[in-house]
Amino acid sequence: MADSPLSGALEFARMLAAGGFRLDPVESAPSIEDLRLLARKRLPTMAFDIVDGASNHEITLDANARDLREVRFRPRWLTDISRIDVSTTVDGLALDRPYVLGPLGLQRMIGGEGELGAVRAAGRAHIPFTISTASNWTMEELAEHATGPLWYQLYMYKSEKIVANLIERARGIDAEVLVVTVDVPLNGKRYRDHRNGMSIPPRITPRNAVQAVRHLGWTRAIMRPPAIGFRNLKDEIQGNNAVSHQEFVKKYLSNLTLTWEDIAEVRRQWDGPIYIKGILTPEDAVRARKAGVQGIYVSNHGGRQLDSSPSTISVLPSIVDAVGEDMTVVFDGGVRTGDDIAKALAVGADLVSIGRAWGYGNAAAGEKGVRRVLEILDEELELAMGQLGATGIPALDRSFVDYPEAWHGAGLHREPEPAAVTEEFTP
Ligand SMILES: Cc1cc2nc3c(=O)[nH]c(=O)nc-3n(C[C@H](O)[C@H](O)[C@H](O)COP(=O)(O)O)c2cc1C
Repeated sequence: MADSPLSGALEFARMLAAGGFRLDPVESAPSIEDLRLLARKRLPTMAFDIVDGASNHEITLDANARDLREVRFRPRWLTDISRIDVSTTVDGLALDRPYVLGPLGLQRMIGGEGELGAVRAAGRAHIPFTISTASNWTMEELAEHATGPLWYQLYMYKSEKIVANLIERARGIDAEVLVVTVDVPLNGKRYRDHRNGMSIPPRITPRNAVQAVRHLGWTRAIMRPPAIGFRNLKDEIQGNNAVSHQEFVKKYLSNLTLTWEDIAEVRRQWDGPIYIKGILTPEDAVRARKAGVQGIYVSNHGGRQLDSSPSTISVLPSIVDAVGEDMTVVFDGGVRTGDDIAKALAVGADLVSIGRAWGYGNAAAGEKGVRRVLEILDEELELAMGQLGATGIPALDRSFVDYPEAWHGAGLHREPEPAAVTEEFTP
């Protein structure tokens, strides 16, 4: 009997039952990359590319990921790691973990509930959730679902009245930090979105109709009221749902006269911490400090703006060195693992902002997907710190990493050489 086909089949069934008949691909996803692949399966290309894509040839998008891989760990074995503390404090804010969920707009374009599930998942884990000005729910609607801290990301539109009103409303929802994004004076050209005919709200065209039919769950979700648009501005700009994303940005978002002087005005209107998002050079970091803000995001908008901008990790060392301990430095761009978080902190960031990583979780399975993202990041961060022998966030310094020397500034920036003055100049 032991070797009969029947006993083999019974044994197989027993093992299957022990292993669980229904393996939930989201719950069991081992990595953010697995969630990204699930999202790609679930969404039509047009929607997946909104999260996954970047500008032009996606040189900067690729560089962010490639350069994070260039950072190598230097483990310190035989260290007591029985207690690892991942909590930290920035600008008087006590955080359970050294990361926040960063601003990602347009989340209803990926179907489901948009940002609502993510704000709930962040609340459950007590991680700050940054509401984007371009969110598909108003900040007040999102605040109703929040059980954890909220941060608010501001785009400085042309109209001072609109900006003042957004700041006032951010205060109204008790946002702890105002994140002012400065790297969108013009909207990046995202080839994938152009090819896909992406528009807000989404339109069903002959080209994407087949996909819409093949992804009925997504199609039903995007058709649900309220109409998808820039809801934070619903009372300000009439009819914005009818214009394309590009037109919208050109008409209402682009503020071509924005300068550092305008930051001083925001400073006057907001008492709490202000972080400038989009800094890529030590010079701009120093300007931000002079403007009186508390922090900066070393960010290239995930490669979605100026393509061929440097990767964020490669400019992080020189920026951290330029601003010293005086400012909070938040890092984003290409973070997909807990190891990436540990690397950015070791190189010198105070905090990491999670971008597409939570977008993939949201696209794969809404709230459940974002919860899984947070579990993965927590598991991996603790694993990295444990294996490094770093028992707390303040201990995680440059002695734990190696990275290219050139990242300390050589070749990154040079003041223009003053023209050589020759005494006798004859044309
Ligand atoms: C779909 C999507 C929407 C985004 N929307 C915003 C936004 O509204 N405001 C903003 O400051 N940054 C926005 N970002 C940029 C992110 O906050 C962040 O800088 C970037 O995603 C980090 O790179 P990573 O996604 O590779 O980690 C968006 C990014 C994505 C992918």
